[in-house]
Amino acid sequence: MKPSQTVDLDAWSESQIQSKLWLCGELELLQNRFAADLTVWMAPGWYGVLALLLLVRSRLKIGIVRSFDIDPRATEIANAVNAAWSAQNGRFRALTADIDTVEFQHPQLYHSPKPDVLINTACEHLGKRTWFERIPKGTLVVLQSTDLVDPDHVARVSSAGELTRQLPISEVLFEGSLRVDRPGNPHHRFMTIGFA
Ligand SMILES: C[S@@+](CC[C@H](N)C(=O)[O-])C[C@H]1O[C@@H](n2cnc3c(N)ncnc32)[C@H](O)[C@@H]1O
Repeated sequence: MKPSQTVDLDAWSESQIQSKLWLCGELELLQNRFAADLTVWMAPGWYGVLALLLLVRSRLKIGIVRSFDIDPRATEIANAVNAAWSAQNGRFRALTADIDTVEFQHPQLYHSPKPDVLINTACEHLGKRTWFERIPKGTLVVLQSTDLVDPDHVARVSSAGELTRQLPISEVLFEGSLRVDRPGNPHHRFMTIGFA
């Protein structure tokens, strides 16, 4: 894929940041289930804003973050946004990859242990569910989607339950929705946390 020519400033909009702070808060409530030095993979990772928020909040004991996106420009921006953590022995690294080709069984390719947590905040963009079937069973997954109508939202849903049913989650720990009062375009974000 060619790098996108423009930067999508929506990544820093109130609604996008609200949705990601909601995710941080709900995931942090589960922290007693996690060991120290968590390995977190994000796919798609877009511009690395969620990684920045989780690392800055510092409430989860995160060791390594890897962020995968099909757009090389997104990779470049994510690495710039999180440069402070890249500089700490490569704690953060963004890589260009189609989510369908991420090598969960060969994490050493990304200088990472296998992921404890896989976060996908862009389920609405992914028509096929082949990416999900590649995730090793037992991995904690954090998924977000939306009911916002947009030509790119090929897999939008109308409830968190629908998001959960779209993918074979073995155990659901959290399901919820957040109303997003975007001016002129109110919508919901839906989130499911569970095990693949
Ligand atoms: C508009 S953004 C994400 C919006 C979403 N609300 C979020 O916060 O993550 C969609 C991202 O998905 C990425 N993407 C789309 N299809 C992909 C794929 N097959 N593999 C990896 N990244 C993909 C795009 O490059 C883009 O960075």
